[in-house]
Parts: sequence; structure tokens; C-alpha cells
Amino acid sequence: MSTPPSPPPSTPSVSLRGLTKDFAGATVVDHLDLDIASGEFFSLLGPSGCGKTTTLRMIAGFSDPTSGTILVDGEDVTGTPPHQRDVNTVFQSYALFEHLDVRGNVGFGLRRKGIDRRTIDDRVGRMLELVELGDRAREKPARLSGGQRQRVALARALINEPQVLLLDEPLAALDLKLRHAMQAELKAIQREVGITFLFVTHDQDEALSMSDRVAIMNNGVIEQCGAPEDVYERPTSVFAAGFIGTSNLISGTWSRGCVCVAESLAIPVPGHQDSAEGDAVSLTVRPEKIWLSDLTPQMFRVPGTIVATSYHGATTQYVVAIADGLSLTVLEQNLPRMRADDRWQAGDRVELGWLPEHTVVLR
Ligand SMILES: Nc1ncnc2c1ncn2[C@@H]1O[C@H](COP(=O)(O)OP(=O)(O)OP(=O)(O)O)[C@@H](O)[C@H]1O
Ligand SMILES: [Mg+2]
Repeated sequence: MSTPPSPPPSTPSVSLRGLTKDFAGATVVDHLDLDIASGEFFSLLGPSGCGKTTTLRMIAGFSDPTSGTILVDGEDVTGTPPHQRDVNTVFQSYALFEHLDVRGNVGFGLRRKGIDRRTIDDRVGRMLELVELGDRAREKPARLSGGQRQRVALARALINEPQVLLLDEPLAALDLKLRHAMQAELKAIQREVGITFLFVTHDQDEALSMSDRVAIMNNGVIEQCGAPEDVYERPTSVFAAGFIGTSNLISGTWSRGCVCVAESLAIPVPGHQDSAEGDAVSLTVRPEKIWLSDLTPQMFRVPGTIVATSYHGATTQYVVAIADGLSLTVLEQNLPRMRADDRWQAGDRVELGWLPEHTVVLR
């Protein structure tokens, strides 16, 4: 039996090789290596100051790398001026031309390229349909809402049909409801046009829900990169675990197949082979993986005391003390038939448990 040949790997849309930026001797982007596939929705997620904008600015050509190379569609563009790169950027502060109407803003790039009037009108019309602003074409930006302005900025970038669209926290200025609406819209537009999106955010929810892959950045380096489920379910470092979602960080000493946290608390980690007796080991368990009722024999179980509860509508969050100095956060769904007095109260003694496969060992 012969296996069919695998398809040739296609050229990445964006490749970074050892991309580095120093400012006054401080390295803010540190030897980034990254391949982003054509048509991929890729998010850079990280705390303020970790180097996200600096990375985008180098890819766009607004800032020169200290060292390293940038390839767009396989072509080295490291020294190429911004307007000659097949890349467009949507910044957080989406500066629109206030004296031009929506149509004028969206068609701006095409007019500058000297494209004929008819074609421009045509493409602007289609683009405005795409971002659902067809009926606002003659409006000046001052009369638009934040979300509408955002969509104009997006249309203005998309109309150039770049290989790659760089988006630097484009939704940060919007209120929560509008942001959620725009997230869905942006994702739908990206699918429709098939352009590679490199999306910068420090909102983990946004990154997880929109992206094909997420890179978690910290201090100028990528700590972890993978599909949303991978980085959420299997964080590899303490930083990655703490930055995405709420995570329970448990530290202890490795001994005979367990992490010993306290005299009375040893958490078994079946299958873990990378630690030697006496090594310091950190673990995490996501709050929604921990159960407070309906525990099964397969679970690791430990008694605890509820020390705090907070109600979040769809969920209730508990903080449960399980040893001296160690509390775990537990997230329970508020099920339809649940009544207020079904929930735990501070001071309640409980038993909590989780399945061994939900214990994640961190670097
Ligand atoms: N032109 C500059 N001169 C000197 N330092 C700079 C310059 N631009 C950025 N920095 C520094 O580089 C680091 C990374 O900045 P950058 O803007 O890339 O962060 P960021 O990840 O985009 O943060 P945020 O989420 O707040 O936008 C910061 O410490 C910043 O102070
Ligand atoms: Mg930034």
C-alpha cells in the first residue's frame, strides 16, 4: 500500500527570522521566528509593553529591525519601504479623513494608485456592502459611531487587497457589546476575503475566539504558539498559564510520582517523567475542570473549605482553600434548574476533584 504524497508546503504569508529590535540598548523584540500561513487568522497576545506594536511596525515597514529578516509571501522585504510592501495596517486609533465622506475614505488608496473612477466606485460599493455600511456612503466620519468608524478603517485597508492585514488592537476602543459584534464580523470578513490577518490584542477572550493560532508574547519573545485549544488546555509555561484564562498555579516538590505541596497534600501526576526527586515543579488546573459535586473514582480528590464565592450570571466562581496557603479557584456553571440556595456558601466544607489528565505540568 502506498501513501499519497503530502502536498508541497505552501509559502508562508509572513515569515520572521530572528527579528530583533533594540531601543537604547534594551531589546524589546528578541529574535522572533514565526511563520504565518496564507489566509490564517493569527493573533499576537501579550501584556502591555511586550513588543506587539513594535513587531507589527517592523512588518509594516514603519520601523527598521535591529537585526533579522521579514519575508512576505517568500520575498525578503526587510529593506523595502512601507508602501511597496503587500501589507496594510489598521491601527487602534483608526484615523479617518474627517473632511472626506465614508466613500472618499474607503476609496482613498485606489485613487492614489490612479485607478479609474468607475472601478473605484465599483470596488468601494462592494467593500461598503461587505462591512454593512452601504447606506452610510455619503456620511462624514464625525457622524458615525465607534464601531462604524472602525468598519470604515477596515474597509479602507481591505480594499487594497493586501496579502496581509496587520491589525493593532482594532477593537480596543469599543464597548463590550460592540466589540463582540465586531469580533464576529471581522472573523466573517476575514473568511470571505481570505487575506492573512495578523491581529494584535491583549484581550485573551478575543484571541481565543477569533484565531486559527495564537502566539503568547512576553518580554519580546514568544512563550507559546498554537491553536486556541492548545494554548488554553495545555499551557507550557507559568506565564502562558497565567496570562490566558484564570489558572490555578500549584507549586511543590517532586517526589515518587507526586507533587508535594504540603505535608497533607501530594498531587499525583501519572506519566510525568521529566522531573527528578526533589525538583521544584509547578502545575496548573483550569477552574472549570474542577468539580465540587458528582466526583468520580477516576478523579484526584481533596477536601477543602469555601472561602469566597462570586456570582457571574452564567457561572459562579468559588475560592476553595485546600491546604495552608493554597486556594484553588473553581468555576461552576449555573444550571437552569439551580436555585440560589443550591450554591455553596463561604465556610462550607467541600470535596473537590479533577481528572488526572487535567493536571498540566508547567515549565
Ligand atoms: N520609539 C521607541 N523608543 C523607545 N522605546 C520604545 C519605542 N517604542 C516602543 N518602545 C518600548 O518598547 C517596548 C514595547 O513596546 P510596544 O509598543 O511594542 O508594546 P505593546 O506590546 O504594543 O504594548 P501595548 O499593549 O501597551 O500596546 C515598551 O517597553 C516601549 O516602551
Ligand atoms: Mg501596542
